[in-house]
Amino acid sequence: MTQGSDWWKGAVIYQIYPRSYQDTTGDGVGDLPGITRRLDHVADLGADAIWVSPFFRSPMKDYGYDVSDYRDVDPMFGTISDFDALVARAHDLGLKVLIDLVLSHTSDQHPWFAESRASRDNARADWYVWADPKPDGTAPTNWLSIFGGPAWQWDARREQYYLHNFLTAQPDLNFHNPDVQQALLDVARFWLERGVDGFRLDTINFYFHDAQLRDNPPLPPAERRSDTAPAVNPYNHQSHRFDKSQPENLPFLEQLRALMDQYGAAAVGEIGDSERALELLEEYTAGSKRMHMSYVFDFLSGEDLGASRVAEVFEALEAEAPNAWPCWAFSNHDVVRHVSRWNLWDQAARAYATLLMCLRGSVCLYQGEELALPEADIAFEDLRDPYGIEFWPEFKGRDGCRTPMVWDGSATGGFTDGKPWLPVPPEHIARNVEAMAAEQGSILHHYRQAVALRKAHPALRTGSIHEMRADGSVLHFVREDGDARVTIDANLSDAPAGALAPWEVRVTEG
Ligand code: NOJ
Repeated sequence: MTQGSDWWKGAVIYQIYPRSYQDTTGDGVGDLPGITRRLDHVADLGADAIWVSPFFRSPMKDYGYDVSDYRDVDPMFGTISDFDALVARAHDLGLKVLIDLVLSHTSDQHPWFAESRASRDNARADWYVWADPKPDGTAPTNWLSIFGGPAWQWDARREQYYLHNFLTAQPDLNFHNPDVQQALLDVARFWLERGVDGFRLDTINFYFHDAQLRDNPPLPPAERRSDTAPAVNPYNHQSHRFDKSQPENLPFLEQLRALMDQYGAAAVGEIGDSERALELLEEYTAGSKRMHMSYVFDFLSGEDLGASRVAEVFEALEAEAPNAWPCWAFSNHDVVRHVSRWNLWDQAARAYATLLMCLRGSVCLYQGEELALPEADIAFEDLRDPYGIEFWPEFKGRDGCRTPMVWDGSATGGFTDGKPWLPVPPEHIARNVEAMAAEQGSILHHYRQAVALRKAHPALRTGSIHEMRADGSVLHFVREDGDARVTIDANLSDAPAGALAPWEVRVTEG
């Protein structure tokens, strides 16, 4: 097994969405003591690390991805000592802890923004991206917000616009200002000093914008992709040449890496870019000066993941990002759960779990994936996600993958004694952890075995990848580590193919 500061290479990282893991106070919202209580489940799964989605002080307009105090726990989730207890328990169980740093933007309630918006000449006037209107009063550029509408919001006091790539309540920090960079590095250091093992870095390619504020060019319809924003979102109509993915990001990532190296920490970045994802993956993760791992959206998109699609992605990876260290996930808190997205049931879900554990790179599993939870159908009245409310019903947002974890067969699945913040679907309760653990051959046991398989073979964990090809529904590839060689033949179909039964994934040594 990869030890020491290289533990992240090929690691299995289990993502926890704190609001929905385990409530211990009866307020219907999960909390840090709840996570601590349930860490045995993660350890039993065989994961190497947890990624905890944001738990910092926040007005929760984007459910924690709008931070108003980077150095404190939101009271809804507990206290900083609860966090220390979580880290201690995780470490006792041999689990690393990655926290989710949202550095690109803050909440509009962050004191930095309150100061910045107060005047054009205060000490933090330039900490956010402020710009004068065009002579006709309209926004400085044509940039769009991912969550809908323009990426600029008018502020009457400064008589200027400020940039927000997401909600208007998430103003974008101005990374061109070295003081901003330093303040964010200090935030990272604060948590490293508290004992975290690294970070998941939110929207890592959004840190910088074009300092000349140039308009994005249009993107012809044939080139539009809907993997990072839904098809109905006009965000896809632009080529995002100037609002994100800027070259100035690289020296900043190098500073962040140098800091992490002092603590032996590791990071996984989120790259949201439909046009240059693999190029950025290479830029950000090749070598040992920038990030350790990053994820792109190829396997998180709605596109069916048959044998030929997997082979196509790995071929592109070999051509465009041969030295990158990807982190693969099929599900997370931003996308439709993959068993529903790809219509996978029983054997099919198992086949994909095994396949994921055989891919080169690291892996993220999302809470509930180990139970094969389907996407929940949430009524409009119950929606919480502003993204879903904006584009309903053509795009229903992200609440369907954020419903509470189910631990037992009780009415709320053992998640809370109160009213859960999002409904717990009855079909989820039937798939609860207690029941799955008791059932021999359940999908939960399958996930445990698949993770164990990866751990048992250094070739699967860290080896090179070769000979990937799709032959009809069968995906074939080889992983190699020194003399050790593992061959994978996966039949991603409900019909037999040659010697392979429907959905059989054959993993053989040699
Ligand atoms: C990406 C996160 O994964 C998503 O949940 C969030 O809404 C945006 N970044 C904005 O922080």
